Amino acid sequence: MDLVLLAFFFIQILSTSSYDLLHNVMDYGATRGGLVDSTDAFLQAWKTACASKEQSGVFVPDGEFLVGICIFSGPCQSTNIQFQNQGTIIAPIDESNLMKSMSWLVFDSVNDLDIYGGKINARANSIWKCKRDKNNKNCQSGARSFTVRKGRNIKVRGLTSLNSNQAHVQIESCNIVHVSNVNIEAPKDSPNTDGIHVSRSRNVVIVDSNISTGDDCIAIIHRTVGLYVKNCKCGPGHGISIGSLGKYESKEDIVKNIKVEDVILKGTQNGVRIKTWAKGTSGLVQNITFHNITNANPSDCKSQIRLNANREIQIRLNRKSQIRSWPTADRESLLV
Ligand SMILES: *[C@@H]1O[C@H](CO)[C@@H](O)[C@H](O)[C@H]1NC(C)=O
Ligand SMILES: *[C@@H]1O[C@H](CO)[C@@H](O)[C@H](O)[C@H]1NC(C)=O
Ligand SMILES: *[C@@H]1O[C@H](CO)[C@@H](O)[C@H](O)[C@H]1NC(C)=O
Repeated sequence: MDLVLLAFFFIQILSTSSYDLLHNVMDYGATRGGLVDSTDAFLQAWKTACASKEQSGVFVPDGEFLVGICIFSGPCQSTNIQFQNQGTIIAPIDESNLMKSMSWLVFDSVNDLDIYGGKINARANSIWKCKRDKNNKNCQSGARSFTVRKGRNIKVRGLTSLNSNQAHVQIESCNIVHVSNVNIEAPKDSPNTDGIHVSRSRNVVIVDSNISTGDDCIAIIHRTVGLYVKNCKCGPGHGISIGSLGKYESKEDIVKNIKVEDVILKGTQNGVRIKTWAKGTSGLVQNITFHNITNANPSDCKSQIRLNANREIQIRLNRKSQIRSWPTADRESLLV
């Protein structure tokens, strides 16, 4: 073998070796077609990948896979772990466990995690019907579709999430999370279907993503410190919201160091807003910048910075206008 060929061969090995040991869910008994439950196969593939000492992961090929509640838990042995999805993961429709559970697909206590590609579809419907009826007080809350919690150094790239029973993507108690090229869709009138919900996390970045839902595109709540949103599209939906704060947590409802820029809003109920509940708690909202927010469909929301009875500040836009930067120097922080 001549040197050039050898070098080429070597480069090939290097370039494919980053996640050599991807465990294909098919090898663990997953069934394509979306009719046969493949939860155990997914969990077994995860368990094996997580126990591996090398860079490792789970691979979901093309096709539709029916998967129930899945907790992919860590800590893992491997220093890097990937969840690569080329298929579509669908949830069981109206299964009572899923309705009662907090989340459907969960990555719990996993560090150095790369979640790449794929579609997930919670196929919600009856829970929306129930919640749309305001007189009906007995609706279940429904599971969030996709949760990363208690993890560090996590990437979520190219994920599509459809029709969640509740919030689509939840980031909770994490440090260093990079979300990019995510696409989230649910009907405009689907209740509580937040796009991305961030809480108790630090150093979160959300870029190049499109979110259309029936609730907040991005909700930034309790103890989120350090969040950067750039180049996202939002709408329909309720806009980008900090809060509600002070409603549930008795103390230290703190959100700070948030920057949201280059966002296009289209058909949103609100623009960007800060929602607080003025209950005399020791919360704090500080160092928030909204920059270059464009409203492409102005008739749907009103242009004003509004402070309501709950001391809720709402920044709304009704002309083809942009907020260059907010707050101004004299409004650098807001006590809630
Ligand atoms: C977001 O929408 C734009 C078109 O408006 C499209 O070019 C882009 O690929 C979409 N991004 C994702 C992540 O779906
Ligand atoms: C304000 O937030 C930005 C991130 O948006 C951060 O880079 C900066 O250090 C923060 N300023 C202070 C004084 O914490
Ligand atoms: C403002 O945001 C829009 C859309 O996200 C982007 O195309 C444009 O380049 C941004 N403008 C500036 C001055 O950065």
